[in-house]
Amino acid sequence: MRWLCLLALLVLAACQAQLPAFSLAPQSEPPVLPAEAAPPAPTPWRPVQPTPLGEPVSFPDCQPDPVEPYRFDPARVAPVALPQDSGPTLRRLAEQNGLMIGTSTAPSVFQNPNYTTITARESNIVAVENAMKWEVIHPQANRYDFKDGDATVDYALANGMQVYAHVLVWDLQQPEWLLKGQHTRDEWIGILCRHIKTVVGHYKGHIYAWDVVNEPFQNSGELRDTHWLRVIGPEYIAMAFYWARQADPEALLVLNEHFAEGLNEKSDAVYSLAQGLLRRGVPLDAVGLQMHVWLYGPPTAADLEANMRRLMDLGLYVHITEMDVRTQLSHDPLSKELAEQAEVYRQTVSACRRVPACTVFITWGLTDSYNWISSYTGVEDYPVLFDRDFQPKPAYFAVLEALK
Ligand code: G3I
Repeated sequence: MRWLCLLALLVLAACQAQLPAFSLAPQSEPPVLPAEAAPPAPTPWRPVQPTPLGEPVSFPDCQPDPVEPYRFDPARVAPVALPQDSGPTLRRLAEQNGLMIGTSTAPSVFQNPNYTTITARESNIVAVENAMKWEVIHPQANRYDFKDGDATVDYALANGMQVYAHVLVWDLQQPEWLLKGQHTRDEWIGILCRHIKTVVGHYKGHIYAWDVVNEPFQNSGELRDTHWLRVIGPEYIAMAFYWARQADPEALLVLNEHFAEGLNEKSDAVYSLAQGLLRRGVPLDAVGLQMHVWLYGPPTAADLEANMRRLMDLGLYVHITEMDVRTQLSHDPLSKELAEQAEVYRQTVSACRRVPACTVFITWGLTDSYNWISSYTGVEDYPVLFDRDFQPKPAYFAVLEALK
């Protein structure tokens, strides 16, 4: 009965306010994924009732640019041949725990069978490292390039893995045409709206979650002075989620941040922003904690768990979206560094398992060979679960133990 009243209120508010009443409930049937490519998504931990709406949200709207939708074609990409051993893997243990576990990936390494086989053996989800970033997927104002994004989705679906799509709004890896553009605020709103609706619409029904807005804050908790803040203002954040939800009613929509994993000014800012968005009925489903940490000074497990719990209490999922643990700057023997690194991974996965809302654990890279840190810092580093010879490290076994 209560829901009927709520629904009536929603409809009434929509009529009165002549605004698009914002329904948080999915409007369409669950995505039709090829049977072999749809591992069981975790059962929703949170109560199903929609977040109570504040004032109905109203945002400018737009039509997506005309592009062909992505279609999964099993003939286009063969699944990797997985060894038939029945031993424990991260994927098997994660699925027994209702967790999504995986790594970021990129077509540039798909030719390496070690890479594609181990990723598919150990993951039930892959994150798209660079292929869906604006400079790659929308390189000119009137041209989209879905090649690498489609290849990544092909690889995931062919191997029964879900896709964590990354990233709709960020202020790095943006193309020249965007950064040099001279437009009115309304024109910028149209540009952002069309990008989001076109890209999300292209992959509609095939994406587990979208990083909608990435790294909006400074460490102080102030909004970072990014291109979109300058040309649109803080509303760019709520607008981005609104348009993403319209383009794909089923994908989980994520606010993703780094250095906001523990309890600090930045995670307080993420919490407050999330609370405000939910109060306005903006469709936010999860907060992504990137977990790019160092051996020294990772967030304590207690702070990480407390932060996860307060986000869960808002009704949000919490995802570990990009974990890696840098060993550089340490002068200890590598064996000691790797043991300490394993402990950081173990504590993180254990904290995630203690919080029902924590349903995703993704490392940023499968092996130490293909990792952004060494190229970004110019210093050798060993941040993830497999070494340069694709052998599991102490960190891998620590995650395996934490999942048991
Ligand atoms: O594609 C060009 C290539 O054509 C060119 O030859 C080459 C050399 O200049 O650069 C290539 O682009 C590089 C791109 O990765 C693809 O490999 C960029 O220079 C390089 O800056 C870019 O780095 C990415 C970085 O984001 C950009 O800030 C990393 O691979 C990627 O792992 C990293 O990921 C970010 C997440 O998106 C957001 N969270 C933080 C995380 C780590 O920075």
